Amino acid sequence: MSSLQISIVVPTYGEEKNIPLLVDRIDNVLTNTDYSYEIIISDDVSGDNTEQVCQELAQRFPLRLLSRTENRGLSPAVIDGITIATGDAVIVMDADLSHPPEKIIDIAELLLKKEADFVVGSRYVKGGGLDESWPWWRWLNSIIATLPARWLVPLADPMSGFFGLRRADMPAMEILSPIGYKIGLELLVKSGFRKERVREVPILFRDRIHGESKMTLREQLNYLRHLRRLYHYRWPKYIEILQFLAVGSCGLIIDIACYLLLIAFGTPHLIARACSYVPAVTFNWLLNRTMTFGHRPRRPQLAQWLQYSVGSIVGFCASWGTYALATQYISFFDEHRLLAFITGVVVATVFNFLLSDLLIFRKATPKNSD
Ligand code: GDD
Ligand code: MN
Repeated sequence: MSSLQISIVVPTYGEEKNIPLLVDRIDNVLTNTDYSYEIIISDDVSGDNTEQVCQELAQRFPLRLLSRTENRGLSPAVIDGITIATGDAVIVMDADLSHPPEKIIDIAELLLKKEADFVVGSRYVKGGGLDESWPWWRWLNSIIATLPARWLVPLADPMSGFFGLRRADMPAMEILSPIGYKIGLELLVKSGFRKERVREVPILFRDRIHGESKMTLREQLNYLRHLRRLYHYRWPKYIEILQFLAVGSCGLIIDIACYLLLIAFGTPHLIARACSYVPAVTFNWLLNRTMTFGHRPRRPQLAQWLQYSVGSIVGFCASWGTYALATQYISFFDEHRLLAFITGVVVATVFNFLLSDLLIFRKATPKNSD
């Protein structure tokens, strides 16, 4: 018995006009081949006639409708669609005919012959392209948005919504946590395929004729949040350190600004130096609590703030102490005092980070399993 070969998962929201056109084209492409296929429409009930349209189509084509009422969104719709798929290869594509169904064969072949583990329909490789009607700003937006994703995955078009993989290679559902549109990027990062096993096939991306795109500013912001998550997944420690440094730099600016402000109001400089520390350290603590270590368990605010402030004083002493010791005992540093200053700041920053990482925002203590 030969098993089903290709499952095509199509997320839809208000696509009643496009679904029949798409299904017809997919069928035209695949009936002349030996491949067996199914189409799964993963619909977030949108109040149009999608259901009737699909019922009618299901009588003529191998089509199933998944009507979703909870956890709405493009990415979860795709994941749910893949979950009920039965084909060896799963291909995800948009309903609006932006993705040429003819390319399904190229993608499926690479997967079924095991020549690749993940295949993406790509606009930015030779032979691929965009609709000529795209205005320059939309094109620029797409290129700029693509750049940070290229660091994560070695692809020209990591944002594509047209992609495929073997169902057996789907990463475990528990590790998937996409927000927004970029489910392909999520799967690529989480599945951890080797670079040589990921391939791009050129596609010509067409603008939709019926209906409207659901890409909004909110989705673009979601994309940024999603990127942050993926970077964190790929390089957890580096991202924590980078965020910690970024927060620290902002804190330093607040510190200096408050210090200068207090002096301008006639506060003695030693007192000003001490007072400006409070808003700066509070700012740093708050941002590290919500951002840098936002994924760590939340501890009571007042106690943690106190711990952080005291920890930072100790850090400050480390900075000052390093400076004092270095200039006192090492003549090189005495001649180059600015270097001693910087060395002190570096020592204190490392110290502060370790303190935050290991104590103040520490991970949950693993429970004994017995
Ligand atoms: N089930 C479900 N739920 N489907 C959705 C939802 C939702 O909340 N939002 C959008 N869709 C479906 C649409 O009906 C369409 O079939 C597909 O997802 C893509 O949505 P569009 O609104 O047409 O997106 P786009 O054209 O702006 O973006 C496409 O191109 C991008 C590259 O430029 C998508 O393929 C993106 O993934 C891709 O990055
Ligand atoms: Mn579209």
